[in-house]
This record gives sequence, C-alpha cells and structure tokens, in this order.
Amino acid sequence: MTHFSSAQFEPNYDEAKVPVFPIPDLLTTFSGEIIKNSEDWNTERRPELLNFFEENVYGKVPGTLDNASFEVVERNENALNGKAHRKQIEVTLQKGSRSLQFNILLYLPKHKDKAPLFLGYNFFGNHTITTDLNVLVSKAWTMNNEKLGITANHATEASRGVRAHRWAIDKILDKGFGLAVIYYGEVDPDKNDFSDGLHTLFYSKGQKQPKANEWGSIAAWAFGLSRALDFLEKEKQVDASKVIAFGHSRLGKAALWAAATDERFAGVISNNSGCGGAALSKRKFGETVGRINTSFPHWFCDNFEKYNENEEALPIDQHQLLALIAPRPLYVASAEEDQWADPKGEFLSAHYTFPVYGLFGKEGITSQRMPEVNQPIQNTVAYHIRTGIHDVTDYDWEQYLIWAKKFIE
Ligand code: GCU
Repeated sequence: MTHFSSAQFEPNYDEAKVPVFPIPDLLTTFSGEIIKNSEDWNTERRPELLNFFEENVYGKVPGTLDNASFEVVERNENALNGKAHRKQIEVTLQKGSRSLQFNILLYLPKHKDKAPLFLGYNFFGNHTITTDLNVLVSKAWTMNNEKLGITANHATEASRGVRAHRWAIDKILDKGFGLAVIYYGEVDPDKNDFSDGLHTLFYSKGQKQPKANEWGSIAAWAFGLSRALDFLEKEKQVDASKVIAFGHSRLGKAALWAAATDERFAGVISNNSGCGGAALSKRKFGETVGRINTSFPHWFCDNFEKYNENEEALPIDQHQLLALIAPRPLYVASAEEDQWADPKGEFLSAHYTFPVYGLFGKEGITSQRMPEVNQPIQNTVAYHIRTGIHDVTDYDWEQYLIWAKKFIE
C-alpha cells in the first residue's frame, strides 16, 4: 500500500480544475439491472450499496455485544430554570470480559409527554454544551485545546459551556424537541491508536487493530449512536420513532453513517460534514480521499486507502451514502467559508438523491442550481449554505427546527 504525507495533497479550490467525472447511477445495480420501484431499491440496490460502503469505506462492525445496560446516574425535573427534565445516563457495553462506558446527557421539554429528539455527539464533553453546573465532566481522554481550557488531555470545569453556542438548547426545547448528547471520545478516542475505545471489545485473541474491511472510528461512533437509541427506545418521555441523528463535521460523517446503517433513525442532519460525509469525493475539491486517509488514518477502514489519489476507481460516490437515508428526511448544510468541506459537492450530493426519494413519492432537490446563501431549500431533502465559517450556529438550528417540525414531528 502506498503511503502519502499530508504535504503531498495540495487542496484544489478552483472550480475550473474540478475534473469531469461520472455520477455513479443510483438506479442501476452493479450488474447493470435497472431499479424501477421502491421495492427493488429496498431489496436489491440499497443492500448492495450499503454493503459496498461497509466493506470499502467505513468498515463493518465485527460482531454483536453480549450486553448493554443503562443506569440513570443523575436526574432533575427542574433543570435549565425549570424548562427541562435533565437525565444523565451511564451506558455500559459488554463483550466477554471487556466493557466500555459512555454517558448520555438528556434534556426533555417539560411540557411534552413524549418528545421528538435530536441525538448527536460533541467534541469536548457533555459539560461543554451548556453552562448548566450539574452536567458531569467527562473523565475520558480529551484532545487538548488550550483556547477551550483543555490541557493534559482531560477536561475540567474550565471548559464548562465553551461550546454552548453550538447547541441552541433553549430554541430546541421551546419548539418541543428534546436533545441527547454524548462525548464522542468516550465511545472511541479520536486518535490513530486502536488500543482503546469500542474496537477493543471485539478483538479476537492477540488482535491489535481492525481488519482491512472492519470499522474505523466513524463506524464506531455510529455504533455508539445506535446504542444510545436503544436506551431512548426505553425512555417513556421520548418518542423514539422521531429521533434525528445530528452531527457537525467528522461527527456529521458519523451521524450519516449511523442513519444509513440503522433505519430506526427518523432522519439525519449533516452539518458541514464534508469529505467522507455529504461531499462528493470525485470532485476532489478541498479535502480529498487521500488527504483524509493520511491525516486521519483511523476514521475509515483500511480498504478505503485503495482510493487515495484514485477517486476515479470508486464505483460509488457520497450521494449514494445519502440515498441510503431515503425515504427518511435528510438535511445537508454547508457554510460559505468552509471550502475545505466543499459546499458545492455537499449540495450536489444532496441533489443527486432525488430519484430515490422520488421512488417513495418524497420530494428531493431536483434543481442542480445551488441556492443563494441563507436561502434554505426545505423538502424531505433539505439544504442550506449560510454565511460564515465551519461551525454550528443559531441560524443552522433555526432552519433545522423549521424543517424538523414539518417533516419529522
Ligand atoms: C478536519 C477534517 C475534516 C473534518 C473536520 C472536523 O478539518 O479534515 O474532514 O470534518 O476536521 O471534524 O472538524
């Protein structure tokens, strides 16, 4: 296998240099059969695409757990100035003699018997998403970030609330939705080292890393979201048939893969997920397959490295990942200054799913013209590009809430 260094990948930001490339057809199977209806999509095309992404992009989950248990470690009926019910749940996953624990922070609107809900990961710990003093600080390994007050690879009180601007909790609750979040590092620490996290639970004797077709970190994070959904299904005040997977950036990639592999998710929001998420790989604009596999060798399965600097050889592209969400609502969002994530590639990818949504009588995005900034298109498939940088803003949440009220609630 050829190994590259990041320096070898000079990103292209020039539309004139985007290669002419084919859009792999959604409705023609790998053996050339034409898919004419939703049943054939479900029984033939969807499974073969899902299998391709499992074997060659994100990697397969190598087995099943022996047990998962959930313990409510903290609760309050009057959280956030009396607006919400708060619960903190410790999840324990077990396989043989090994186990892993992660924590879910759950806020539910008080005035609702059964709430639809957004479920997503955060980057630095549940306590970073709110100034609520009762949210437990994660004890897990955390990436250092001096600006956010995280040093020595562990979070402390210093980082409480530092990411609150990314989670419009009040707006979410006011619209009657709940929010559940997990610190992604508790499920699988984000480093190129397979000696810890979820992967280790499934190793056979002597195994030190996943096989070439087995899961990287994105698939492990996706698996974690599904286990959180297992808990939410038992939670009386949650409408588990209306759980929307949400994620920003690498965690948007994970949210998409979670919703693709687990059809219990009612919908998914990809916020600036970029390469290996919503963006088309074959455009080679901004981050590319070779670059992402070099900077983050642990995110995808090793088989994906075959496509480093070789996107032409991919028989699929990321619109086919998005189509695996159909007929469920899908929202793809970009930011104008986030060219690294290729906004146009994210838009086109969402657009190209429309024939599959059409098989189910659902409205996708039929126009190939990108909307202006801050002019969302909201059908079952939705898209917006907002002004500003790679981030999650109140503007993003306002659009997600309008769309979720219409298509999920
Ligand atoms: C890097 C990476 C992206 C990723 C982003 C993030 O920029 O190259 O693929 O989406 O980090 O997670 O913020």
